[in-house]
Amino acid sequence: MRKPIIAGNWKMYKDLTEAVDFVQKLLPLVSDVSDRTILICPPSPFLKDTADEACGSNIMVGAQNLYWEDEGAFTGEISAPMLKSVGCTYAIIGHSERRQYFCETDETVNKKLHAAIKHNLNAIVCVGETLEQREKGETFKVIEKQIKVGLDKLEIDHWSLVIIAYEPVWAIGTGRTATPEQAQEVHAFIRGLLPKNVAGEIRILYGGSVKPENVKELMAKPDIDGGLVGGASLKPDSFAKIIKY
Ligand code: PGA
Repeated sequence: MRKPIIAGNWKMYKDLTEAVDFVQKLLPLVSDVSDRTILICPPSPFLKDTADEACGSNIMVGAQNLYWEDEGAFTGEISAPMLKSVGCTYAIIGHSERRQYFCETDETVNKKLHAAIKHNLNAIVCVGETLEQREKGETFKVIEKQIKVGLDKLEIDHWSLVIIAYEPVWAIGTGRTATPEQAQEVHAFIRGLLPKNVAGEIRILYGGSVKPENVKELMAKPDIDGGLVGGASLKPDSFAKIIKY
């Protein structure tokens, strides 16, 4: 059985007070949840305070990005050991906004994935096609390359740290969710690309305008193992509703 994960990607929102206040408000709303993993991914300046606030609870804290070197002269970057040292246990890698605005490629995604694994961080690797690619009928080709290159050179014992998020770019922040059938079709395709001996264990999350109103039907699909939630993860009430779909 794959344990579902509901992850909140806060992107570049909130200040420190709001971030800590969010955790304080979410804690009592989800304290009875044990059959799914709850994750928040705040901006990096708030990781330590949110992780401290959530310490000992069922709320995990993850980063939105990391750099592949452990340390060095890389101004502005944050490494996996640094994330570990502030209480992070997860990292999102290769979000489409990172690919679109910060030149991330499947090759840099792969380097980041190996850095996360080396330091025992759970890695959420994001893949997804643009609207143009979908309309041209290239969805499966694009996803296959993102998976093959992004998840290259993994050894069998690495896979327990790997989570995949399918996020069609056209559904992110647009209010236009993929239908459960569209999502399931790609999730099943992704699972088919994974090594046979691990495919049944890997969690594949759907992301793109997940809301309290649509989470249940998405989660009812056999290959959808959770959600990566942007906008609707910013308020404790709506995020708690999604967690408790
Ligand atoms: P959204 O973002 O839920 O606001 O569409 C999802 C994401 O980018 O991870």
